[in-house]
Amino acid sequence: MRFNVAIDGPAGAGKSTIAREAARRQHMIYVDTGAMYRAMALFMLRNGIDPSDTESVVKQCALAHITIRYENGEQMVFLNGENVNSYLRTEEVGNATSVVSTIPKVREKMVELQQSLAAENDCIMDGRDIGTCVLPDAGLKVYLTADSTVRARRRYDELKAKGQECDLEKIREDIEERDYRDMHRETSPLRQAPDAVLLDTSSMTVEEVVERLMELCRERRG
Ligand code: DC
Repeated sequence: MRFNVAIDGPAGAGKSTIAREAARRQHMIYVDTGAMYRAMALFMLRNGIDPSDTESVVKQCALAHITIRYENGEQMVFLNGENVNSYLRTEEVGNATSVVSTIPKVREKMVELQQSLAAENDCIMDGRDIGTCVLPDAGLKVYLTADSTVRARRRYDELKAKGQECDLEKIREDIEERDYRDMHRETSPLRQAPDAVLLDTSSMTVEEVVERLMELCRERRG
């Protein structure tokens, strides 16, 4: 039997940092589902398709072949054979992703890929609908959240550390807009699964959150 961990929560709650580190310590793979949706949005942007033009996105998404490979434990996303990891984490792609990911046809395609990864590997998977839709039988479900001001600050520090110019207030607005869209879309909105453990990380350090997640994994995995 596979042991899978589902982590959901809003943008900037620290899901990927926590999940990546926990997966490393648990010898599991880390599946970043946001990166898959981001690759789809990148495909649309590169081809001049308006992410909110549902009809065109549905037509074009059949031409986007997205696959995942692991290199030194890191998830690599391939878009039609090209490793696109380094193009995925911009704010432009993030905002387009939040729009593209509302489209059911896009979600169908991504969920299929995610479920096949979880069937073949013990994994920690993060996203918005993992506990509610992708892995309803996950051995552990966690809903990771933090105050939007704290999340904006974290993202701001992250971008600054990479040398990117950014504006804290604009980041907070984008985060709140994205949260609203993710939580109110018709298909698989972001929601805490009834059986998920709630972790509010507003005043926790990364190490504290990873430790708590390790404890939960040990309890559930036995
Ligand atoms: O986690 P992230 O910031 O990389 O996600 C980018 C967008 O992708 C986010 O706005 C919502 C969407 N997403 C989703 O709808 N379902 C997922 N499982 C993961 C991400």
